[in-house]
Amino acid sequence: MSIQYKFPDGFWWGSATSATQMEGAASEGGKGLNIWDHWYATEPNRFFDGVGPETTSDFYNKYKKDIQLMKQIGHNSFRLSISWSRLIPGGEGEVNPEAVTFYNNVIDELIENDIEPFVNLFHFDMPLELQDIGGWESRRVIDAYEQYAQKSFELFGDRVKKWFTFNEPIVPVEGGYLYDFHYPNVVDAKRAFQVAYNTMIAHAKAVQVYHSLNVEDGQIGIILNLTPSYPRSSNPADLKASNICDLFFNRSFLDPAVKGEYPTELVQLLEEHGQLPETEVGDKELLKNNIIDFLGVNYYQPRRVKSKETLPNPYSPFMPDWFFDNYEMPGRKMNPYRGWEIYEKGIYDIMINLRDNYGNVESFISENGMGVQDEARFIKDGRIEDDYRIDFIKGHLEWLHKAINEGCNAKGYHLWTFLDNWSWMNAYKNRYGFYSVNLETKERTAKKSATWFTDVSTNNGF
Ligand code: GAL
Repeated sequence: MSIQYKFPDGFWWGSATSATQMEGAASEGGKGLNIWDHWYATEPNRFFDGVGPETTSDFYNKYKKDIQLMKQIGHNSFRLSISWSRLIPGGEGEVNPEAVTFYNNVIDELIENDIEPFVNLFHFDMPLELQDIGGWESRRVIDAYEQYAQKSFELFGDRVKKWFTFNEPIVPVEGGYLYDFHYPNVVDAKRAFQVAYNTMIAHAKAVQVYHSLNVEDGQIGIILNLTPSYPRSSNPADLKASNICDLFFNRSFLDPAVKGEYPTELVQLLEEHGQLPETEVGDKELLKNNIIDFLGVNYYQPRRVKSKETLPNPYSPFMPDWFFDNYEMPGRKMNPYRGWEIYEKGIYDIMINLRDNYGNVESFISENGMGVQDEARFIKDGRIEDDYRIDFIKGHLEWLHKAINEGCNAKGYHLWTFLDNWSWMNAYKNRYGFYSVNLETKERTAKKSATWFTDVSTNNGF
């Protein structure tokens, strides 16, 4: 077979998931409650088909077999997250020994099967007790997070060498404090910006702790969903709209993480509108001195914007959307099964931006993938023939390959996700996995893309 797209030696091939979305066992093994358990218990109707986080895909009980399935499809790396409320029920204080055993088992099993564990500390799942005292608005929660991070490094850092502080930290800001799709369902931009800022303080503290341990072959980073904001046209008004969008949704986390400081333009904008978060003495230095070692990039779809068509209602709450309108480009390519635009070149544009404006920071694609509703309609002879997913991955890999050829520092590609998992409010509506999961029996079945990916990983290209 001739390989047209060969990737650099040692390229990371695998997939990613998170604790709440995959483990299940939400009330087993001594786990405490997190905001998802609580929100589902109080408002189950807000979750697709009324499915909650209690059992999800049952990785907690099936991890051994699942790791064999990963191995079968050529994974050399895999990202999971630790559930804070499982490791430290309540979020502060004593470690739960059953959780330590579980995560030790998973990590050991992965390593025994030549799959490198990438471990993330926070994937949207705030322990309930900490949310009750203010969540990321509270400095006490930052301290609790720092201790949780330190504990995790102590417990698992002898074997785990790739750490992440947060996955898509902007999403709890958007979901929980602006657009009402995460608990606590607050709509208040000022509080949202405080949450965003405090998250970065927590991040920098965890980086500081990790670096103080001087683990020679260890790296710590953050995972950001970088969504290029393409302007409708080169009209200055459209360019301004896309620049503001980029400041709010990309640079708000990317700049402090990689450069150790916030973009001046963003600070000025928030100041003009009386939206600046409270800061403390020492924060600036903390951010400056604790930049990341490497970056995970999640990319699903582009954002297209145009200048605002109507003035914002002055009585409506302040929103980033006061400065731009979303733009539906005529003829854009769509994933019709999920309603998202597909724009493969976005991955290249992100990488070039990192190369040219962020010191070519070491990075990898930590999530990319295609959600599809009712995938069962594509079953032939018992297998989901997901050629659309193969095309999707291929298209993105081709652009990633080009970026690498042009000097971008990308080290791997992880699909979202390994097996169909629970997608927050969407529950099991959109399926993303290499393996499908039967929700009644929990049986796993490889999709066609899984077989295809095995070849890609084995040949280090396609
Ligand atoms: C990402 C997120 C994941 C997963 C995925 C697919 O933004 O990190 O948790 O839900 O979207 O919807």
